[in-house]
Amino acid sequence: MERTLSIVKPDGVARGLIGEVVKRLEANDLKIIAMKMIQMTKAQAEGFYAVHRERPFFGSLTDFMTSGPAVVMVLEGDNAIARYRDLMGATNYKEAAEGTIRRDLATDIEKNVVHGSDAPETAAFEIGYFFNAFEINPR
Ligand code: TYD
Repeated sequence: MERTLSIVKPDGVARGLIGEVVKRLEANDLKIIAMKMIQMTKAQAEGFYAVHRERPFFGSLTDFMTSGPAVVMVLEGDNAIARYRDLMGATNYKEAAEGTIRRDLATDIEKNVVHGSDAPETAAFEIGYFFNAFEINPR
């Protein structure tokens, strides 16, 4: 069993896509074991995306992530990190495979609807960034 962090980003929440994302997670045997809606502060977004702080898109990305509410979730399943990355599709929706969340729903390389952890170490950091142990309910 593996855990990963999923975010429905502010564009996905604003466009009414929470249910669509959740439907795809549940249909693909990624169990939601924690879930909440948050409004990220600029400092929180900067900390979350700290690995990108030198990148040209950092300011725009952290503004976007604070532009409205987001839904953060912890997913659990066999090989959950890679399976959820496959379900999301490539960062750039134009390069994402057919049938992926980003290919089907994203409108922009930045406004790409969802986030998913990319490795076990980042998943552990990202889950702990938004959830404490009492908020996670494995079934
Ligand atoms: P990254 O961690 O590379 O992608 P992913 O979300 O697929 O793990 O980048 C984080 C986010 O930064 C990405 O979802 C969208 C944004 N971004 C841009 O706006 N422009 C870019 O050129 C890249 C690479 C990312």
